[in-house]
Amino acid sequence: STGRFTYDPGFTSTASCESHITYIDGDEGVLLYRGYPIEQLAEHGDFLETCYLLLYGQLPTAAEKADFVNRVTYHTMIHEQMSRFFSGFRRDAHPMAVMVGVVGALSAFYHDSTDISDPQQRMIASLRMIAKMPTIAAMAYKYHVGQPFIYPRNEYDYASNFLHMCFAVPCEEYKVNPILARAMDRIFTLHADHEQNASTSTVRLAGSSGANPFACIAAGIACLWGPAHGGANEAALNMLQQIGTVDRIPEFIARAKDKNDPFRLMGFGHRVYKNYDPRARIMQKTCHEVLGELGHKDDPLLQVALELERIALSDDYFVEKKLYPNIDFYSGITLRALGFPTTMFTVLFALARTVGWISQWNEMVEDPSQRIGRPRQLYTGASTRDYVPITQRR
Ligand code: SDX
Repeated sequence: STGRFTYDPGFTSTASCESHITYIDGDEGVLLYRGYPIEQLAEHGDFLETCYLLLYGQLPTAAEKADFVNRVTYHTMIHEQMSRFFSGFRRDAHPMAVMVGVVGALSAFYHDSTDISDPQQRMIASLRMIAKMPTIAAMAYKYHVGQPFIYPRNEYDYASNFLHMCFAVPCEEYKVNPILARAMDRIFTLHADHEQNASTSTVRLAGSSGANPFACIAAGIACLWGPAHGGANEAALNMLQQIGTVDRIPEFIARAKDKNDPFRLMGFGHRVYKNYDPRARIMQKTCHEVLGELGHKDDPLLQVALELERIALSDDYFVEKKLYPNIDFYSGITLRALGFPTTMFTVLFALARTVGWISQWNEMVEDPSQRIGRPRQLYTGASTRDYVPITQRR
């Protein structure tokens, strides 16, 4: 502490807000959304029910759920002019780059829900975000692979609709596999919120100035992209591919432990969890289900992942530093099996995290104690000195 400020790089001990939404006990490996354990929500609930819970604070009754699903479904289309927005991007652009741009552009298309002082406009903006993200993410995918956009279908549930928009093609019949759709839905639930992580804090900080919700979520997407955060699912799969075979694991474990080597085990370690990330456990189970359904049980990358986890968890370095697999460790293998290229992995994380971001944003806007975020600094630069004319500088 400097007397006036506390110096806390990385905010390891600074609470920036009060929140009623998500609780994590990192030592015990516990994650609750509005008090409900993630295991129970993932097993018995579905993603839209979780969205309702995060947004409104309680699980919906059957009538409330039907109404909410209907309202989300009603908002899944995006303004037709937005589809032309995509063609401004190079096709080989990373889909996350496209997401940052297109989601930021939502505020240019939906002016009627950008007045943040109006609770009704805030709720419409929230529903629009939850409803349109799968459409935008699927369009980013279709643009990336050079296929025509597929429009949302109202008879499908949220996850099935997303798979349909990604994988249907106009020239043949596409049937959504319900087991894979259920897995997709569960993956969304697992990613829905995670208290004040870097991207959520970014959304709150952006929103603290009164910026509109679409712009704030675009800021969150930009932050999520980094490999230390949501980009780790892509980085983890690339790492497993780079390792390739089980016999090469010790070499990579040695590199991860070497202070002089920047290599880190992607999908390992967490700022808050000093125990197994409960989401990683469910993700591992989901991974087995998906690979089983697709007949990929012997996927060599799964063998590498399981063995890597086993070796790391019995290695003193990882044990002492309490480094366990996090949500991103098994999600890559699962998403790859579902048919997504690695470049889409973080897009899927962003899609699912949107409800968390928007719920936290609403909570902040409604909290009278919240002020504009304005961290201070410890200035370590030059002290006062006089301007020197350019001819006299040496
Ligand atoms: C997400 O915060 C959230 O809630 C995020 C998230 C969410 O849902 O929003 O859960 C999603 O971002 C998951 C994390 C995904 N990232 C990765 O998997 C990337 C690999 N992991 C890390 O780089 C790291 O563990 C972080 C970024 C996740 C956490 O960083 P911290 O808390 O700043 O910890 P640190 O980097 O200072 O590590 C502490 C020690 C260091 O060693 P020492 O300097 O103390 O000797 O542990 C070592 C690190 O070098 N370490 C690792 C390691 N992670 C930490 N060593 C090898 N491999 C690793 N993966």
